[in-house]
Amino acid sequence: MSITILAIESSCDDTSAAVICDGYVLSNLIANQDVHKAYGGVVPELASRAHQANIIPVVDQALMKAGKSAGDVNAVAFTRGPGLLGSLLVGTSFAKGFALARNIPLIDVNHLQAHVMVHFAKEHGRENRTPSFPFLCLLVSGGHTQLIVVRDYLSMELIGNTIDDAAGEAFDKCAKVMDLPYPGGPVIDRMAKEGNAHAYTFAKPRIAGLDFSFSGLKTSFLYFLRDMIAENENFMEDNKNDLCASLQHTIIDILVSKLVKASKATGIKEIGIAGGVSANSGLREAVTSEAKKRGWNLFLPEFRYTTDNAAMIGVTGYYKYLRNEFADHSVSPQARFEV
Ligand code: KG4
Ligand code: ZN
Repeated sequence: MSITILAIESSCDDTSAAVICDGYVLSNLIANQDVHKAYGGVVPELASRAHQANIIPVVDQALMKAGKSAGDVNAVAFTRGPGLLGSLLVGTSFAKGFALARNIPLIDVNHLQAHVMVHFAKEHGRENRTPSFPFLCLLVSGGHTQLIVVRDYLSMELIGNTIDDAAGEAFDKCAKVMDLPYPGGPVIDRMAKEGNAHAYTFAKPRIAGLDFSFSGLKTSFLYFLRDMIAENENFMEDNKNDLCASLQHTIIDILVSKLVKASKATGIKEIGIAGGVSANSGLREAVTSEAKKRGWNLFLPEFRYTTDNAAMIGVTGYYKYLRNEFADHSVSPQARFEV
C-alpha cells in the first residue's frame, strides 16, 4: 500500500502545504505573506491572521496539484515548533481537525529536523541523490545556525550552535541598516554579485569549538557605517554593492570555517547545507570549492527547499509514519524546540 501524507508548515510567515507519497514530493505550495514588507520584519499577529486566511486554499491546491483528494490521505504531518506560537497554532489546529475528520493519524514534526530532512526529499523524473549516514549538516536560517550530525533519518545530534544571532538574522539586520527591504538576505545576495568582497573587512568572532556568534559582526558593521557616513554622507549609497559583498563574504567565512572544523573533528565527509541562508549563492560557491578541495560528498538543496516549505515537513512525517511515531490530540505547539 502506498502512503500519502498531507503536510502543513506555518511556523513563521509562509503558509505551506505539500503532498508526499512514499517519500516522493507530489506537490509543495507556498503562500508568502507580503503584509510584513511594510514593517521591515515579521509581525506575529499579522502572520497568524494571514495563515488563517491562506491555509484552506493552500491545502486545496496542494491536493489538487498532487491529483489526490482528502480521502486519499493516510496521515497529516504538521510543524510543532520552533516558531511563532500564534502561527504554529493555526497549522496545528488545522492538522488536528483534518486528522479527526478523516480518522487518520497525526504526526508532529520538528521544523529544524525537517530543514535537514530536505536532503531525503525525492521527486519523480529526476535523479534522487541522498546522503548516507553519518551526515554532517550546516543548518542556516533566519532563526538558527547549527551544525548537526545526522546518524539516521530521525536521529540528530547538535554539535554547534549560535550563542546569539542567527546567520539569517545577521543578513536581515545589516540589510535593515542599509535601508534594504525585508528579508534582506536575498537582496544582499543579489547586490553582492556586483560588488567587491574585499573592499572592507569586519571583525570576525573568536568563539572556541563549533559554536557561532553574529552579534559582534552586526555591531561592527553598524559602527563602521556610522563612522564612514560621518565623513561622507553619501558613503552608504555610493558603496552599497561593495558593502553587501564584503558583509556576505565575512558571514560565509565564519560559516564555512566552522563547517570545515566540524568535518575534521567528526571525520565526516558527507556534507550538506540547509535552511533559508543555504540559498545564498556565495555560500553555495564557497562550500562547493571546499568540497572539491577536501573530497567531500556535498549536498546542496534545491532552491525551493531552502526556505520554509511543507515538503520538508512531509518527508520527515513520512519517516515518522514508517516508525509509527504518531502524536495524540493533546499535542500542543512549542515555540522553542531543540533538534
Ligand atoms: O529557513 P527560513 O525560510 O526561515 C527560518 O526558519 O528562519 O530562512 C529565512 C532566512 C532569512 O533570514 C532570509 O534573509 C534568509 O533566510 N535568506 C537568505 C537568502 N535567501 C533567504 N540569506 C542569504 N542569501 C539568500 N539568498
Ligand atoms: Zn525554517
